[in-house]
Amino acid sequence: MKIFIDSGNLRDIESLVPLGIIDGVTTNPSLLAKEKDDPRAIIKKICQLVQGPVSAEVVATDAPGMISEGRELAKIDEHVVVKVPFTREGLKATKALSDEGLRVNVTLIFSAPQALFAAKVGAAYVSPFVGRLDDISANGMELVRQIVETFSQYDFGTEVLAASMRGPLHILEAARMGAHVCTCPPAVIEACLKHPLTDIGLKQFLGDWEKAQAARV
Ligand code: E4P
Repeated sequence: MKIFIDSGNLRDIESLVPLGIIDGVTTNPSLLAKEKDDPRAIIKKICQLVQGPVSAEVVATDAPGMISEGRELAKIDEHVVVKVPFTREGLKATKALSDEGLRVNVTLIFSAPQALFAAKVGAAYVSPFVGRLDDISANGMELVRQIVETFSQYDFGTEVLAASMRGPLHILEAARMGAHVCTCPPAVIEACLKHPLTDIGLKQFLGDWEKAQAARV
């Protein structure tokens, strides 16, 4: 499963990329609104850092507006994936942009039929929002399972990108279900890096080693 960072923060991305586990980045208007720099400059810099797919979302709500904005976003860098919300207009825009050869990530997916329709119009990725479903007492991971199962019956070439991840267990479940990609906030990736038993074990190994070295002198 590919791991994307769900962030527009360059410092967070810079600190995670050297780990070697990062395949791409997703941004959205809310994430980029938190940053001071120009959004296009941020997207460009992220593309240079990750050298992998970087989702940049349109803010137009009509298909012609989404299409022209998507074309402009795609000009920023070859790694840009145009992110389009799942709406009637978004479907039209996804079809048009995909037909032009641009990669589209259809976002704000909350049902399997939405994912199916997005795949039919050529989306490169569909993004089911797991955490936001959990927030309203629905089963977000069950949606990922349904989409993975549905897509396995066909040959769409659309990747299931599990989004709105809230913790390490979401990552694990997405991988066990066969999601192609999981996009995680930096804090969730950081949480996967830590385990108290690893820290205790390492402290013990190093302590034992030092004691043995001292005894040899
Ligand atoms: C996906 O691409 C979105 O940016 C993101 O996962 C939304 O997550 P949230 O529900 O934590 O805002």
